[in-house]
Amino acid sequence: MTSSPPRPLLIAPSILASDFARFGDEVKAVDAAGADWIHVDVMDGHFVPNISFGPEVVRAIRPLTDKPLDVHLMIAPADPYLEAFAHAGADHISVHAEAGPHLHRSLQAIRALGKKAGVAINPATPAEAIEYVLEIVDIVLVMTVNPGFGGQAFLAPMMDKVRRIRSMIGDRPIDIIIDGGVARDTAAACVEAGGNVLVAGSAVFKGGASAYASNIEAIRTAAARARGELV
Ligand code: DX5
Ligand code: ZN
Repeated sequence: MTSSPPRPLLIAPSILASDFARFGDEVKAVDAAGADWIHVDVMDGHFVPNISFGPEVVRAIRPLTDKPLDVHLMIAPADPYLEAFAHAGADHISVHAEAGPHLHRSLQAIRALGKKAGVAINPATPAEAIEYVLEIVDIVLVMTVNPGFGGQAFLAPMMDKVRRIRSMIGDRPIDIIIDGGVARDTAAACVEAGGNVLVAGSAVFKGGASAYASNIEAIRTAAARARGELV
């Protein structure tokens, strides 16, 4: 039996770290700088101790980029808002395993809306929490900080959990997103553990728009080298 090829390495800048006063320009700049996906962090001030943006922001940026909009819902409950985010133009919608009692139903609902379904887990949540939803997810998002804020330190012990999830996934076509504290110095650990999508907020949106391309490239190069794709 041959195993399937590795999932592609993708970099997903988080617009949570962008300049909100110039939001549209920031999305366009990071698109032009080589982002593979645009990561949209939605926070409700209830599931996490911060408030960010809602579906109307997704609708506003949808025409500005052809890249997939990767929406990370840090809200509870999530179910009442899935349709709004789907209709606003999200391509991927991730819900937290900790956000409600009916995770499987939430993921089914996302799929029924024609979107890629993701499950996200907080640092304290074990890999086993998602074992029985792997059949209906396209994405597993592993938090490497406690969700709520950008710019926090990467939690390296989460890499053991990523390895376990990678092995639970086996040959299924599921992307593993690593989210929180990802930068050029932590990218290698993320991909060595089995992550293939790297979300980065503060490490991308620093130094002004002219630096975004080199910021993305630095993360991509470190990760590609660790994957053995660069010499
Ligand atoms: C945290 C968010 C992350 C965060 C990443 O709650 O889910 O996407 O914005 O930001 P950095 O890369 O700065 O840790
Ligand atoms: Zn996120």
